[in-house]
Amino acid sequence: MKQLLATESFSSEETEAIASELAAVLKAGDVIALYGPLGSGKTTFVRGLAAGLGCVKGVRSPTFSLINEYPGPIPLYHIDFYRLEGEAEIEDLGWTEYLDSGGVTAIEWPEKVKKMLPSKRFEVYLSFYDENTRMVEIVALDNAGN
Ligand SMILES: Nc1ncnc2c1ncn2[C@@H]1O[C@H](COP(=O)(O)OP(=O)(O)O)[C@@H](O)[C@H]1O
Ligand SMILES: [Mg+2]
Repeated sequence: MKQLLATESFSSEETEAIASELAAVLKAGDVIALYGPLGSGKTTFVRGLAAGLGCVKGVRSPTFSLINEYPGPIPLYHIDFYRLEGEAEIEDLGWTEYLDSGGVTAIEWPEKVKKMLPSKRFEVYLSFYDENTRMVEIVALDNAGN
């Protein structure tokens, strides 16, 4: 485990800017698991990723559609497992095909697919301090899950 960043963000714009900086080092095939309670800023972070990757389509919460695709130089696949229950239901969706289809995949509520996540991934932890302040931590895990 390599900690890349641990910082406070004082606005959604700042969280987007942090995500855009991460996007600058991302390559096709990379996976970003986003942890944090509702309203902590996971979708906001994905908005910054999309901007940093040069995706043109606006980011919206895929809570109802489950998966949103944002075309760009490196496409971004945005998956939100919030509404899904149980690994069996999730296994049926074929979402893992996105992991090696030439884009970056960002996953909200990755704890619901814990066993299916690739061991090499970035993890982003968002937590509340107050209304506009969040703690943002970014960690890189390697192929061995370390
Ligand atoms: N520092 C911050 N970082 C991210 N979002 C923030 C911040 N301060 C306030 N917000 C607000 O918190 C909300 C985060 O919502 P969202 O990104 O949809 O969260 P999640 O996807 O984790 O449920 C947005 O309304 C956003 O404007
Ligand atoms: Mg969200």
